[in-house]
Amino acid sequence: MIPVLARTRLGLAAARRGLRSPVVLVPTMGALHEGHRALLRRAREISQPNGSVVVSVFVNPLQFGPTEDLARYPRTLDADLVMCAEEGVAVVFAPGPAQMYPREQMITIDPGPMGQVLEGASRPGFFTGVLTVVQKLFHLVKPDEAVFGEKDAQQLALVRRMTEDLDLGIGITGVPTVRDPGGLAVSSRNAYLSAEERTTALVLPAALRAGVEAAGTGPDAVLKAARALLDEAAHAQPPLVTDYLALVDPGTFAQVGTGYAGRAVLLAAVKTGSTRLIDNMPLVLGGAI
Ligand code: PAJ
Repeated sequence: MIPVLARTRLGLAAARRGLRSPVVLVPTMGALHEGHRALLRRAREISQPNGSVVVSVFVNPLQFGPTEDLARYPRTLDADLVMCAEEGVAVVFAPGPAQMYPREQMITIDPGPMGQVLEGASRPGFFTGVLTVVQKLFHLVKPDEAVFGEKDAQQLALVRRMTEDLDLGIGITGVPTVRDPGGLAVSSRNAYLSAEERTTALVLPAALRAGVEAAGTGPDAVLKAARALLDEAAHAQPPLVTDYLALVDPGTFAQVGTGYAGRAVLLAAVKTGSTRLIDNMPLVLGGAI
């Protein structure tokens, strides 16, 4: 199937009118890779037998800080369209900034306390930008369902909470993180890594795995096992600089205490060279589900 390419709101509205339900939206910033492909496949499954998949490709300026990589973020629309065609996407919505933000965005979404911690603390305004654009995309595309990656666990949790708290009536599906053969979560930012930086970066999934393996011995042991590997890599060449390591309740993103039992997420953000990477792994503590 060759997807319809809509570059404007009007074009999208016209294409949307011809789609049968359920309409499943996959929001992206483009530069599509194998992680995105897993989302497209899941979306296709959800849309069966008669529905359609819509993919948005928009590098959202509202979620980039003044010192972040908006200008150098990769833009590869032709290749993105090829992947969308391969995965049976019906419509690709790829608006320019003036289509999404025709004037100053005065009204934005407040992500609340769950958006202030971890990624929200390291990147002020980031989740306001994410939730605002996701909300706008929901209104423009009017999907029945939307698909997000567990790779961005805090983003997924906030989108879920937003749809519930604001009664958006859109089902949210999470897709497990796709990793490369070395274990690194696939990301467009991996392309910035030199061979040496990549070797250092591999400690990130290794540390999370070490934490998950300690799950039987409780939250403190999980953090200690992961921290040991991250600390060691602080002396690697080039070094790994840890921004945060945290073990949280997946519903609230509050850090879990010593006696916690149940589902949890172990997350970390690190930097090597000038590349910042985030990753996480789910686990169950205390043997409970
Ligand atoms: P982007 O980074 O392009 O990611 C789009 C979607 O792909 C997100 O839901 C993300 O979690 C998922 N994804 C990325 N890498 C993945 C991997 N290795 N495995 C599984 N899923 C992966 O996230 C954004 O864009 C933006 O913040 C957006 C939601 C589009 C709002 O602008």
